[in-house]
Amino acid sequence: MTQTDAGSIESVLKEDRVFEPAANFSESVGGAYINSLDQYHQLHKQSIEDPQGFWATIAEELDWSTKWSKVLEWNLPDAKWFVGGKTNICHNCIDRQINSGHGDQLALIWEGEPMPEGKPEVRNFSYNDLKREVCKFANVLKDQGVTKGDIVTIYMGMVPELTIAMLACARIGAVHSIIFGGFSAQAIVDRVVDANSKTIITCDGGYRRGKVVPLKDNVDDACTQLADSGHDLKSVIVLKRCENNINWTEGRDHWWDELVGNASDNCDCEPMDSEDMLFLLYTSGSTGKPKGIVHTTGGYMVYTYLTSKYVFNLVPNTDQVFWCTADIGWVTGHSYIVYGILPNRVPTLMYEGAPNFPAEDRFWDIVSRHKVTQFYTAPTAIRAFMKWGSEHPAKHDLSSLKLLGTVGEPINPEAWMWYRKMIGGERCPIVDTWWQTETGGHMITPLPGATPTVPGSCTLPFFGVDAAIVNDRGEEQPANVGGLLVIRKPWPAMLRGIYGDRERFIDTYFSRIKGMYFAGDGARRDERGYFWIMGRVDDVINVSGHRLGTMEVESALVSHEAVVEAAVVGMPHEIKGTGIAAFCTLEPHHVPNSDDEVAKLKEILRAHVGKEIGAIAKPDVIRFTDALPKTRSGKIMRRLLRDIASGSEDKTQDTSTLEDLSVLEKLRESEEG
Ligand code: WTA
Repeated sequence: MTQTDAGSIESVLKEDRVFEPAANFSESVGGAYINSLDQYHQLHKQSIEDPQGFWATIAEELDWSTKWSKVLEWNLPDAKWFVGGKTNICHNCIDRQINSGHGDQLALIWEGEPMPEGKPEVRNFSYNDLKREVCKFANVLKDQGVTKGDIVTIYMGMVPELTIAMLACARIGAVHSIIFGGFSAQAIVDRVVDANSKTIITCDGGYRRGKVVPLKDNVDDACTQLADSGHDLKSVIVLKRCENNINWTEGRDHWWDELVGNASDNCDCEPMDSEDMLFLLYTSGSTGKPKGIVHTTGGYMVYTYLTSKYVFNLVPNTDQVFWCTADIGWVTGHSYIVYGILPNRVPTLMYEGAPNFPAEDRFWDIVSRHKVTQFYTAPTAIRAFMKWGSEHPAKHDLSSLKLLGTVGEPINPEAWMWYRKMIGGERCPIVDTWWQTETGGHMITPLPGATPTVPGSCTLPFFGVDAAIVNDRGEEQPANVGGLLVIRKPWPAMLRGIYGDRERFIDTYFSRIKGMYFAGDGARRDERGYFWIMGRVDDVINVSGHRLGTMEVESALVSHEAVVEAAVVGMPHEIKGTGIAAFCTLEPHHVPNSDDEVAKLKEILRAHVGKEIGAIAKPDVIRFTDALPKTRSGKIMRRLLRDIASGSEDKTQDTSTLEDLSVLEKLRESEEG
């Protein structure tokens, strides 16, 4: 292995299994949109050479009340798409379907978590139903004094009213800022203050794994803090879901049902400028306060519409049911439960609760009962399914599935192969979609009828995406040399800024490499041009001058049958400068019973990594743990593990997005050499 220059990351992963798109895929989905790699390359080339022509044609598939005068205006780092155009995304999600005669078709399927007498509550909404509910709530918002441009905070569980609330905001031109229902009161305060939001929509409680999450209590706590700091909150609208006891502040709090009861179900869509803000979504930076990512209307609408259509191959009138398991509090839910799916006229399924309630087969039960055709989830979930055992999916008829997707983290080839076999029955293509809150929609992804897939690679850039791997000087890296992942041209759904912080926007995304969007990820491209994400650049480990991405070492660990999940981080090392610490969760049958067995297993794993990758990547320290610290969206928080591995404890670290604080405490308690 040779030493490489600044910005390079060495690649050590070898993977040569290739899966061609199945010959009958197109037939199975009622016609694939893109059917060969040649067709992809040709269209991709066209989309890069003539982005304005390409995107204008796509935008014409949707409704605009005023046509744009110019497709793109680009003054780095500011993009304006469909300049001068006016539209409304709620119209394109709902009214457009009704106007073309499809108002009775199924738009949204919702399933609640509780299973009283073995049966879940299911609610179905046609486009007509959705329109009625959205219009009523839009009128409620207006009555509460919400007007175009106001920022409305939404902190709810995964109930259909969450979708209704966001569409209602979009309908009247209010901006929504959705906060994941698992976040704390403090997280609400920070976001409400940053956005200067006057209205909060919440629920009394939310169901999660059989328990009630006290959402309204959290809002009350937040309101107390807000009042102390002089923030003038106008109203809190509360949906009754769990009937848990809550406190009530007269004048400020209002029941959803009471307000909606008298509201008219007629509400015109506000014509929105293409560049009017649609939503704010806060995402955590590695340090400091969360960033409010700004997305606007026209470009985001066109981009999420097209990525949904091509990547999931959504075809109306073919009995497809699309299910994305993400929470709407996360960008994946915004784009691929609601905004990208509804305009494609395929029903979108929304599930309220946990994957293991009442048992570990809940997801597969849902797939078989609703005959889900496209299923989109995260690698962290897939690894949990593997740990729970293949017997759970095996109990159910999963033959309705035609396509599988993943998002959120690099998927290790082991998990990919398990997913393909146990969930996809070896017939469903897998789309491993790389993208970010900031990108709004899929950026690098296979197209299911066209792209041969390789486990662990997100393959090729989507149309209009000019992705590259560069070193610190912005020079493109040769094949298989890892570097920084950048996007060199604007795309319609790109973020338009960080709310209220222009400098941070430029610093974070446009300063490291001049003239390009820097995503913060390390990656390489192989000889076929396929992209392999190697992990966040901030997590790269520099061992004796070799810069290693976390993904590849973790993948090697997980490829051993004893390991379900692994996280590796750098730690101070006397000789090498930096050594590697690995945190592993084990497959239940392989949990060692004695100190001897622990030591033995650690040696086996070190040797295994040595064999898979090379001696350089052998972990210096291995720790077994029941769970890894993760964000609510399932990403491993390696910066917290770095502290533990180095024995330091930085109390200033932002842990507000951590799912379960006790995981960290346990790891600290079990500290060992
Ligand atoms: C990671 C989620 C590898 C990546 C939509 C990115 C991935 C960050 C993939 C964004 C993937 C997401 N393969 N890594 N398919 N998808 N990531 O903002 O590090 O929650 O920068 O958006 O997740 O996370 P975010």
